[in-house]
Amino acid sequence: MKTLGIETSCDETAVAVLESDGRIRINLISSQVAAHAPYLGVVPELAARHHLEALPRLLAEADRQVGLGDVELLSVTRGPGLIGSLLVGTCFASAYAWARKLPLAGVDHLEGHLVSPFLRLDGTPAREVPDAVLTLVISGGHSSYFLLDGGVARPLNRTRDDAAGEVFDKVAAALGLGYPGGPIVDRLADLGDPSAFSFTPPRIKDPAGALDFSFSGLKTMVIRAAQGLAALPLGDPRHPPEAVLDLLASFQRTIVDWLIAPLDELVARHRPKVIAASGGVAGNREVRARLTSWGSERGIEVLLPPVALTTDNAAMIARAGQLRAERSELDDPRALVAYPRAPWKTTGGPGGKPAFPRL
Ligand code: KG4
Ligand code: ZN
Repeated sequence: MKTLGIETSCDETAVAVLESDGRIRINLISSQVAAHAPYLGVVPELAARHHLEALPRLLAEADRQVGLGDVELLSVTRGPGLIGSLLVGTCFASAYAWARKLPLAGVDHLEGHLVSPFLRLDGTPAREVPDAVLTLVISGGHSSYFLLDGGVARPLNRTRDDAAGEVFDKVAAALGLGYPGGPIVDRLADLGDPSAFSFTPPRIKDPAGALDFSFSGLKTMVIRAAQGLAALPLGDPRHPPEAVLDLLASFQRTIVDWLIAPLDELVARHRPKVIAASGGVAGNREVRARLTSWGSERGIEVLLPPVALTTDNAAMIARAGQLRAERSELDDPRALVAYPRAPWKTTGGPGGKPAFPRL
């Protein structure tokens, strides 16, 4: 089914069209970075208004480039995310599906990130999702390993506090480097010495959470170290002094070490056939290089999405909708409800009995 995907859960308005085999025909994103940058974070009201303006524009552009007249399925992000932003996408998609009598799939944003490693930007079909995939989802809202098996994504660990992307953003903001912080730190960390600073790893006492992440301590240590450097405030944030570059390199090395730390244990426990990563932080060059070499040292395939599909996009939402349609999990356009929080987070998690996202 030729599929139109719509994503408006946070600060990117995105529209994509996929062929039934998951080939990406078009993948459009309207970034709001400039609108939110002065506030060093996403302002929900601004985001919703931007979606309202950008969505019809992107759809017209997609129609002009690849034609929307023969679309057979509509897929839209239902949640989690900013409720005002989600409502723009879900109301729009519901009305569009109703008017055109198209089947509608409301998908979880996380489902999108989970399928993104199986998509390509070179015009080739999407890969089938094999059984037993161990996926690290690292974004502004998530930092978890999931086991994708039998069509169900089961969380294997979680972060006790901040998500990885959030820490990149907060560190960069505290150092006056700009927003979003991930790509800025990625670029600057390359120029510093990653062994210049060392940070104490968190101690999680609860044995059930031994593989959980915790990043807020790291964030505080990095911000304190920055305040201790006579280098602050920065003169020109585009060219920070060497000590700040060293701090960023050490921070990035540490967070990547901690992200990779549970891998050996998780692989021993679950024997996955493929390791994958997704979410904005999976676009980080050090994350990609370290995961790739981890896999080649152990002879395990590591599958990463193209960098452009690591951050929020509608191609992954369209693909997740196609997989839902294959299972006949469609939604009534008169009753599609958006949700700000992940149901599997509030109804359970590791050890509980949550409604895990399916793939
Ligand atoms: O997946 P995403 O676009 O949105 C969420 O679902 O949260 O991820 C955005 C997050 C931001 O925190 C951003 O700073 C981070 O991903 N990010 C990166 C990189 N590119 C984006 N973090 C580290 N290195 C990058 N290259
Ligand atoms: Zn995302």
